[in-house]
Amino acid sequence: MANDRVFDVLIIGSGAAGLTLALRVAEKATVGVISKATIDSGSTAWAQGGIAAVLSATDSFDSHVEDTLIAGDGLCDPDVVRYTVEKGPEAIQWLIDQGMPFDTKKDGPYHLTREGGHSHRRVIHAKDATGKALKRTLDEQVRAHPNITVLESHMAVDLIRGADNSGEGPCLGAYIYDINAAKVEVFAAKATVLATGGASRVYLYSSNPDGSTGDGIAMAWRAGCRVADLEFNQFHPTCLYHPEARTYLITEAVRGEGGQLLLPDGERFMQRFDERGELAPRDVVARAIDYEIKRLGVDCVFLDISHKKDKFIKKHFPNIRKRCKKYGIDITEEAIPVVPAAHYTCGGVVTDKSGHTDVESLYCIGESSATGLHGANRMASNSLLECIVFATSAAEDILTKLDDLPPPPALRDWDESKVTDSDEEVVVSHNWDELRRTMWNYVGIVRTDKRLARAQHRVDLLQDEIQEYYGNFRVTPDLLELRNLVTVSDLIVRSALERKESRGLHYTLDYPDMAAEAKNTVLVPE
Ligand code: FAD
Ligand code: SIN
Repeated sequence: MANDRVFDVLIIGSGAAGLTLALRVAEKATVGVISKATIDSGSTAWAQGGIAAVLSATDSFDSHVEDTLIAGDGLCDPDVVRYTVEKGPEAIQWLIDQGMPFDTKKDGPYHLTREGGHSHRRVIHAKDATGKALKRTLDEQVRAHPNITVLESHMAVDLIRGADNSGEGPCLGAYIYDINAAKVEVFAAKATVLATGGASRVYLYSSNPDGSTGDGIAMAWRAGCRVADLEFNQFHPTCLYHPEARTYLITEAVRGEGGQLLLPDGERFMQRFDERGELAPRDVVARAIDYEIKRLGVDCVFLDISHKKDKFIKKHFPNIRKRCKKYGIDITEEAIPVVPAAHYTCGGVVTDKSGHTDVESLYCIGESSATGLHGANRMASNSLLECIVFATSAAEDILTKLDDLPPPPALRDWDESKVTDSDEEVVVSHNWDELRRTMWNYVGIVRTDKRLARAQHRVDLLQDEIQEYYGNFRVTPDLLELRNLVTVSDLIVRSALERKESRGLHYTLDYPDMAAEAKNTVLVPE
């Protein structure tokens, strides 16, 4: 029994949530940040539209709160929503202080754009690549901090509770797979933070990077934490549809700045579904597109911003213009082919306002958490806001407790005595593909009990097979991700089966109406 590394705070994940927390505690604590890929991996670097916060004199906290509650379709925690919204301006100021280059404008300090569900311009941004600028800003600060150790290509396998890993008591650290050394090590910490992002890669088509495999949600579940509202999987309405393109997001800000959704014959259709048209919340727009694609038997619909001046398009959407151009689409002249794709995991690990989970000394922040902010449908650009606000509140909570926590004891080593090297890697890739297809086909934008039952049956079989494989063979990153994906898929399907109504992102033909009482779906580990 020997710990390979010891920190005051171990942060698993280097996105907006993880790095903000690192910077917020680093003056008073030693911090280890681990990432299963590079420091800039995760969804944060891919964020486009911006960060929602009340920043103009014509906007108000009440309005941001109300819009969030409406988008969340009756299931947000109003107290958490107000808490987050009121912390918004402070969070943005902190980012500006770190050097974040938000777009400015001539007649006021910052340019604010609009996105679906927002009744005001309140999305502060850095062109159409806010996440890239945000990541660059935070990465630089983190890399320069003497108390923060960043370990790339280090993947968390499981959390450790109890020195003998009995599964009881506080979280004392995690088993971490050093990918380059192909070895599982023991990382001990006074406080452990899951900041591992979402799980949208459970679906075949997703706007997310490869690593969004729900690792933190699965690890927390195995460690005894409750999870909530995992049936609310957000599909972004407009991802680029092109045979040669990996799914690429076309930001909602394109619609916020006047972009129109068109059928292949040029008809504008959103007004038939919702009086807010293209700026209705995402669930409404994604469902309308899905309906039209199926009704007409077409591959995609179109998003047109070409009626705006070339100069405006080049200024606001330079990256989207460039990317589309690569595929022969000139967005200043023609409409962009688009389809919905899995984008955001609204549910996750249950936490309080300090990001604390059900397990002592274990925190969860960012997309892997369920704070109560998003309810049944996250409003655009509220995610990065949540990352910054809850990383800050978790940091404050950790710092108040740190001095009273004893140094972690020596923890039990990783046991490899019963496993060998895999003889059939192909099992992993086949199961990976089957799982994602199953989720896409049966647990997608429109659901039924029959489809969910089919999914449950297949997920059960896959879970048994993957568990057996995990028990017999040495771990690899692909196997670890697959194990987490199948756990999260199971949790999503179980949550979806429990909800006998349609609400927000969960739409089922068997129960098309909304129930009178709004209830969270909370799953409790046995
Ligand atoms: P991430 O940024 O996803 O980071 C997760 C980190 O955890 C990564 O470093 C990853 O390598 C690491 N990790 C995962 N598992 C493990 C493991 N087992 N061991 C070690 N490390 C692990 N939201 C907005 O508010 N505004 C936007 O404009 C916006 N645009 C978006 C555009 C796109 C294309 C996408 C995909 C998302 C967008 N979102 C947007 C959502 C938002 O970007 C994410 O919800 C947010 O960035 C999540 O941040 P995070 O810190 O929780 O996780
Ligand atoms: C987008 O820019 O459309 C994405 C915004 C978000 O997911 O919040």
